Amino acid sequence: MPHPIHVLGFSGSLRKGSYNAALLRAAGDLLPEGVTLETFDIAPIPLYNQDVEQAGHPQAVTRFKERIDAADALLIVTPEYNYSIPGVLKNAIDWASRNPNSFNGKPIAFMGASMGMLGSARAQYHLRQVCVYLNMYPINKPEVLVASAHEKFDAEGILTDEMSRSLVSSLLQSLADWTRRLRGE
Ligand code: FNR
Repeated sequence: MPHPIHVLGFSGSLRKGSYNAALLRAAGDLLPEGVTLETFDIAPIPLYNQDVEQAGHPQAVTRFKERIDAADALLIVTPEYNYSIPGVLKNAIDWASRNPNSFNGKPIAFMGASMGMLGSARAQYHLRQVCVYLNMYPINKPEVLVASAHEKFDAEGILTDEMSRSLVSSLLQSLADWTRRLRGE
């Protein structure tokens, strides 16, 4: 029996009806055996300010860093805003990268949904670039790019598109395999 893997997931959209938050919920229903998913709400994280940091991390930041530390792997679900990741997501990442960098050496997977044709592809590539400086280990495949998101979820926010569900399952399996490989299991 392989060792369990605990994944921390967070969404870069704060809105209630978010397709990306719904995609993260779908991941919770599609976990491979031996994998658990905890989600973190980045909404309470304040805007980064080095003066505030020097006075001590705000409580929401400390909690975020603790939950990242406790995770074996991360799952970021990002919308695409102006061909990149939303400011709220970059802001949360910037905070957690400080004193010390909580992301150092973590395996990570990405997913994203947008109403456009590319399903957050450009945002995910920007996120990969950020992960280089953070010294993270992202998986490459499969890419989960949920395009035309308004057609892939029902009115309750359930991911109904079978192809997308299958890609999410396969991404989670790849993240688990990659995490075990990095641990030398
Ligand atoms: C967008 N949207 C968008 N979509 C896209 O495919 N490429 C883009 O560059 C952008 N840019 C963009 C900028 C801003 C400021 C907003 C608010 C929106 C549309 C976006 O993908 C869509 O609103 C998604 O539904 C947002 O994700 P959530 O909130 O549903 O998770």
